[in-house]
Amino acid sequence: MLLIAIIAVAQYAAAQVDYSQFVNPLIGSEGPIPGYAFGGGDIFVGGAVPFGVVKVGIDTYEDNITLSTLNGGYTPMGKVTALSMMHESGTGGYPKYGIIPQMPLTTIASPVNLLDNQTYSQSRVGNDTARVGYFKTQFQNGVIAELSAARHSGIMQYSFPAGEKHVLVDVSHYLPSQSGGYSDQIYIGGEIHLQTGGIYTGYGAYGGGWNEGAPFTVYFCGDFDTPPDQARTFRGRNTDPNPRYHTFSDGPVPQAILGNTSEYAGPLNDRLGALFTWTNSSLSQISSRVGISFISTDKACNFKNTEIPSYDLIATVSAAVQEWNQDVFSKVQVATGSSVNQTNLALLYSSLYFMHLMPSDRTGENPLWESTEPYFDDFYTLWDIFRNTVSLYHLLQPSYYEGMIRSLIDIWRYEGFMPDGRSGNYNGLVQGGSNADNVLADAYVKGLRGGINWTAGYEAMKKDAEVQPYNTYSFDDPSASVKEGRGALYDWIPLGYISVDKSTRAVSRTVEYALNDFALSQVAKGEAPEDVQKYLNRSAQWQNIWAHNLTSLNFTGFLAPRFADGTFNLTGYNPALCGGCEWKAISYEATPFEYSFVVPHDAESLIQFMGGPTAFESRLDYIMQPNTSQQNLGANGAGITTIMNIGNEPDFATPYLYNYLNKQWKSVQTSRSLANQYFHDANYGVPGNSDAGALNSWLIWQMLGIYPVVTQTVYLISSPWFEDLNMTINGNSTLRIMATTSGSQNSTSTTSASSFGQENFYVQSVKINGASWNKNWFDHEDIMVNGGTIEFDLGSSPVVWETGDVPPSPGHLVL
Ligand SMILES: *[C@@H]1O[C@H](CO)[C@@H](O)[C@H](O)[C@H]1NC(C)=O
Ligand SMILES: *[C@@H]1O[C@H](CO)[C@@H](O)[C@H](O)[C@H]1NC(C)=O
Ligand SMILES: *[C@@H]1O[C@H](CO)[C@@H](O)[C@H](O)[C@H]1NC(C)=O
Ligand SMILES: *[C@@H]1O[C@H](CO)[C@@H](O)[C@H](O)[C@H]1NC(C)=O
Ligand SMILES: *[C@@H]1O[C@H](CO)[C@@H](O)[C@H](O)[C@H]1NC(C)=O
Ligand SMILES: *[C@@H]1O[C@H](CO)[C@@H](O)[C@H](O)[C@H]1NC(C)=O
Ligand SMILES: *[C@@H]1O[C@H](CO)[C@@H](O)[C@H](O)[C@H]1NC(C)=O
Ligand SMILES: *[C@@H]1O[C@H](CO)[C@@H](O)[C@H](O)[C@H]1NC(C)=O
Ligand SMILES: *[C@@H]1O[C@H](CO)[C@@H](O)[C@H](O)[C@H]1NC(C)=O
Ligand SMILES: *[C@@H]1O[C@H](CO)[C@@H](O)[C@H](O)[C@H]1NC(C)=O
Ligand SMILES: *[C@@H]1O[C@H](CO)[C@@H](O)[C@H](O)[C@H]1NC(C)=O
Ligand SMILES: *[C@@H]1O[C@H](CO)[C@@H](O)[C@H](O)[C@H]1NC(C)=O
Repeated sequence: MLLIAIIAVAQYAAAQVDYSQFVNPLIGSEGPIPGYAFGGGDIFVGGAVPFGVVKVGIDTYEDNITLSTLNGGYTPMGKVTALSMMHESGTGGYPKYGIIPQMPLTTIASPVNLLDNQTYSQSRVGNDTARVGYFKTQFQNGVIAELSAARHSGIMQYSFPAGEKHVLVDVSHYLPSQSGGYSDQIYIGGEIHLQTGGIYTGYGAYGGGWNEGAPFTVYFCGDFDTPPDQARTFRGRNTDPNPRYHTFSDGPVPQAILGNTSEYAGPLNDRLGALFTWTNSSLSQISSRVGISFISTDKACNFKNTEIPSYDLIATVSAAVQEWNQDVFSKVQVATGSSVNQTNLALLYSSLYFMHLMPSDRTGENPLWESTEPYFDDFYTLWDIFRNTVSLYHLLQPSYYEGMIRSLIDIWRYEGFMPDGRSGNYNGLVQGGSNADNVLADAYVKGLRGGINWTAGYEAMKKDAEVQPYNTYSFDDPSASVKEGRGALYDWIPLGYISVDKSTRAVSRTVEYALNDFALSQVAKGEAPEDVQKYLNRSAQWQNIWAHNLTSLNFTGFLAPRFADGTFNLTGYNPALCGGCEWKAISYEATPFEYSFVVPHDAESLIQFMGGPTAFESRLDYIMQPNTSQQNLGANGAGITTIMNIGNEPDFATPYLYNYLNKQWKSVQTSRSLANQYFHDANYGVPGNSDAGALNSWLIWQMLGIYPVVTQTVYLISSPWFEDLNMTINGNSTLRIMATTSGSQNSTSTTSASSFGQENFYVQSVKINGASWNKNWFDHEDIMVNGGTIEFDLGSSPVVWETGDVPPSPGHLVL
């Protein structure tokens, strides 16, 4: 009987694998300096559901400002200032969010000042525990804080040591930029009302942050399992320096003034909040639920009550885990037994986790206009995720993805432009082109239709391509808009390139606008056939800044700065340098040397311009070699010394370009070596900011053994990391990727777990849907619509197995 019972449980367990156990939510939480987030993934750590509005986690403050990176709220050793409801994940630049907080306190006696987090913030003892949907930490004062999240609400559970018990709610709390500056967030004002039984409601308004956002308002509703014995409001003069708006004084932080039931502070006025106190000495644990809404406190209360019906923290954790397993992890199934490399399991499921934290699905929560369309915020940014993340959403999350695209189009309809970045209900910033165009085209060519109004979608793309956006005079780059659209259209349309004397980021934006226009040409095929040739021609305009005779490091032909008068400025020009790769540089987050490979729609011209396949290959070989980088990459460097920089998005597809030479084995070798070198199941596990999961999705494609070519129906074939993998695509089809090592297997190896993947990873042959396949790429139609199989035969020797056509260059055109 016992045996049967065990077997039954085992079978049940096999059918319902808890993949969440393989997720390490701390990958990316540290950078190269142990104990610091600085130079790391800037990830969010805490409780969240896939694409959830609420991401509950701790906010921290670093004693060493030089090493302060608070973007995700969490830092390994920073002092905790609060647990708050909203966070970004993976973003660089200035922090955004870290709002709607609570902070458990064991004393409010002097020197504690409710308006000064430095007087009550807490160091942590022991190690934090982070799992999917759950986080736990212990403060120096003995309080243990645990938390979890539902979609618009969170639950916090505090275990207090004997003594005083308070919970502080500081409506004026937000994640600061510790070194200050133009893009620091600001608290605008708010309101709080205390009701009997410890229920509190109100709102806070906040603005600024990396995307230079306008103010937005978040309503909240909180309560406690045990009503507090005393509940008081507080307020006090705001002494935060609010750049560009209101600097109150350089004086000290004043003391909070306690009040009774309500506080209101109009725009740029006082800070405010509430303090709850429990005096029952036999009580040691207090749980609290908080709901948030962008519409009203009623909705916030409703979310709290319906999403978290009890104060049972574990019930909320279980619900979150179940949602992650069902909607995310179980869509990629691999064997999980002990013979499988456990590190690879952690990398696979953690990467899936991180690519599903953003954007935030705020459907029904758009305060700006009334619409029945879905609404998403926290595209942070499309510049990062257009390259391969969205192509994975397309397969794994067709309904969320359709919602994202409808939302992008709805934003255009009501605000005039689709975003490239968007957060806090505000477009910004644009780092290169208008990359919503690429996202829409990628979905369109692969047949995503559903409820998307493609007439409108194409109109929105055309706005990007034709209408110069208003300049918002950003401090980052006052020359033209970085809020939305294409800031350098004034060059792009009349000149056919972006000039170095009239525009910033001339090289990188020329390359990106070209791909954006290719994207238009692809959607125009179905929506406006008369436009196809026009945008195809414009997609070749990168060629206008190609300096055919420029030689650097024995390689000839590079993108180069060109003046508006048509002449190139090659005086002292070194394509391996970018002058900081920032907003005002000639190229953004990569050097012209790197951008010279970033023309996914016309690899054929690129190969020709670089002197043919042999020269192209040796240039690719060169940029993969250590100690070739000449540009100081600063905090983004991740120890990378090759020109090829996997830590920044422009180079994501570059290691796969060998497929265009029918030397697929070199794509496998280089991409796998980058993955092994820079991606780890460790706190310092990604090479720089994870960028809303962009780095993580790059790794997933690498592990699948395929790589999508954005805005095309093409997938390049590389080499898979698992022997058998089933992926649920398009809702209910199955893509199965299998690998055997029956080819020229390394015979000296013994165990299959180590020989597979570690040594025998070169492709010997491929079958698709059972038939042998002689191309190193396939089309979306082949297996991504109704599902299908890819069978790899892998071995230890590099082999040129592909005899078919190289991948297509659908934008091939020589100006
Ligand atoms: C802060 O960190 C930097 C970089 O590690 C170090 O040089 C500096 O001495 C530190 N400052 C303090 C006050 O610890
Ligand atoms: C905490 O206090 C510091 C120093 O006054 C301030 O810069 C910061 O904005 C405050 N808030 C948080 C959440 O760190
Ligand atoms: C915390 O984790 C580290 C690294 O895993 C370990 O060495 C250390 O013993 C742990 N500390 C505690 C208090 O558990
Ligand atoms: C709070 O209530 C008490 C008792 O009703 C009253 O004496 C006091 O003035 C009130 N304080 C404020 C700030 O309203
Ligand atoms: C993939 O699906 C096939 C067909 O249902 C099944 O036989 C195989 O065991 C699955 N593989 C994994 C790793 O789940
Ligand atoms: C689709 O969008 C177009 C262009 O904005 C609009 O004219 C049309 O009414 C929309 N169609 C539907 C069904 O909403
Ligand atoms: C590049 O070199 C070729 C051959 O040396 C020459 O014909 C051509 O004029 C040069 N082009 C430019 C733009 O200097
Ligand atoms: C360029 O080529 C010359 C001649 O083949 C060689 O001597 C030199 O080392 C090469 N330079 C670089 C940077 O590869
Ligand atoms: C040409 O570029 C160099 C840097 O490579 C720069 O120093 C110089 O000012 C530029 N010339 C003009 C006329 O802008
Ligand atoms: C599969 O999913 C698609 C899209 O969601 C749907 O139209 C179709 O009916 C589904 N087919 C089955 C057999 O469930
Ligand atoms: C598991 O894979 C990782 C790379 O992801 C590798 O470093 C490690 O050696 C592998 N472990 C075994 C036992 O093969
Ligand atoms: C085969 O494996 C052995 C032991 O891991 C290794 O030393 C050898 O280089 C491998 N041979 C090839 C051709 O990969």
